[in-house]
Amino acid sequence: MATHTSGSDPLLMNKIAGAVLFAGLIAMASGFVAELLVHPKMLKENVYVVAVPEAAGAAAAGGAPKEIEPVAPLLASADVAKGEAAAKKCAACHSFDKGGANKVGPNLFNVVGGHRAHSATFSYSNTLAAMKDQNWDYEDLNKFLANPKAVVPATKMAFAGISSAKERADVIAYLRSLSDSPKPLP
Ligand code: HEC
Repeated sequence: MATHTSGSDPLLMNKIAGAVLFAGLIAMASGFVAELLVHPKMLKENVYVVAVPEAAGAAAAGGAPKEIEPVAPLLASADVAKGEAAAKKCAACHSFDKGGANKVGPNLFNVVGGHRAHSATFSYSNTLAAMKDQNWDYEDLNKFLANPKAVVPATKMAFAGISSAKERADVIAYLRSLSDSPKPLP
């Protein structure tokens, strides 16, 4: 009897088993859906938390290039020897002596007060060459040395810039001294 009963049941048993499996699948699926719903929320919170200090940092970093401290007030007390030492980082690309050879960049003797693209023998970028009728005055050089690309877009001078106004003043005072008759201070 028992065998017969169970023999007639398998269909029903299959249906029940199928229903249980199906319910299980739905439970799993809703588990996934629930996770999908929960996780984006958690991500949003994390991104928000991280974004706060990042925004503050970006504002601080963005503040520096916007206003470049003028160099004129610093030049009177600038230190030519310190400028010469700081200009070591330019020496990979520039020579400083009178009649010195062009390297990656032009020789820099007599550049202060001279016209932009002042070397007759160096092959400048088109942008700098097109600025030939402007002179390198102290504030121009100050801005250029703070951020070369901002003053001469697409410049060939692959140099990030000097962020310290004091150091730029020292370097410009040194560049000024590279002349038979240095330009008057501003
Ligand atoms: C990676 C090489 C490189 C470094 C480092 C570099 N320069 Fe230059 N510099 C150049 C090149 C190349 C040019 C020509 C730019 C152009 O044609 O746009 C140039 C142009 C200049 C000019 C304009 C010259 C002119 O005749 O108008 C000045 C001034 C100058 N550099 C100063 C400096 C100083 C000061 C430093 C160091 C603080 C420095 N450079 C570091 C490659 C460099």
